Amino acid sequence: MTWGIIGTWRMVHDGLVAASKMLQENKRVGDAIEECVKAVEDYPYYKSVGYGGLPNEEGILEMDAAFMDGDTFEIGGVAGIVDAKNPVSVARALSKQKFNSFRVGEGATKFARLAGFECGNMLTERARRTWELRLDEVKKNNLNPYDGHDTVGVIGLDLSGSMAVATSSSGLFMKKAGRVGDSPLSGSGFYVDSEIGGATATGLGEDLMKGCLSYEIVRLMGEGLSPQAAADKAVYGFHHKLRKRYGKAGAFSLICMNLKGEWGVATNVDFTFSVANESAAPAIYFAKMGQNDTTVIEPITEEWLAAYEKRIKQPIE
Ligand code: GLY
Repeated sequence: MTWGIIGTWRMVHDGLVAASKMLQENKRVGDAIEECVKAVEDYPYYKSVGYGGLPNEEGILEMDAAFMDGDTFEIGGVAGIVDAKNPVSVARALSKQKFNSFRVGEGATKFARLAGFECGNMLTERARRTWELRLDEVKKNNLNPYDGHDTVGVIGLDLSGSMAVATSSSGLFMKKAGRVGDSPLSGSGFYVDSEIGGATATGLGEDLMKGCLSYEIVRLMGEGLSPQAAADKAVYGFHHKLRKRYGKAGAFSLICMNLKGEWGVATNVDFTFSVANESAAPAIYFAKMGQNDTTVIEPITEEWLAAYEKRIKQPIE
């Protein structure tokens, strides 16, 4: 038996390092990926997930999250939840419920409070100020207000052969109240079957929902494709189809892992991710769309990491 874990964006890396240790120590995959996502939710400088996430156009931070167990197919989800410190933990708790396992808005927040999850104001001063500045900018320059939809999605495999996937996102910055992206939606934002593998998405939810790409990648792996071949086929096939029939394709990136801990990535934008398995220590990579529907994957550079660190912490006027 082997283990593995893969997650979206550079932001996942520190949590993934800790989670990979848990998997090496024979801890359960659900615990490892929940801890990994919580680390991202708790970090105030990541502006698209949890504490520090950017709010909707009314200045309210509405968050989406999901958890799926690949052994039992149990799924829990929250959409438009407010004030919950760790939406992923709320989603995981909901996955244990036979009924009412996907809750939205007030109902989701009420569940989190009643179930004893830590709640409080999740909007940081930095996020509030960024929202205020964007409101001004949009008014002055008649801009499209929408920006940023970087979900953290993590797929894990533990030494007992169990797989699970979790997502968490504050969604599109300046979204309308009640707008929900792909992240809490099974098949679009995530899917996992421990007998095959799992996949998860980040990008423009409105377009990801049109393709159900997470399910499609798992289905293709189930037909015998390698994770990389499945990701390339599903993502670039849909990217072309969407451009042809809808006229455009928003940014999206998908990652996947199979039951052997082998992984794949495909993207139509510049994308970073972190991955570890029994034969490779946790590392961050850069991915972009290559020629002929393939993906170019390179190790991240020190320069890129330094510029990222500077960018996420730069002072807001
Ligand atoms: N992928 C996250 C969102 O669109 O909300």
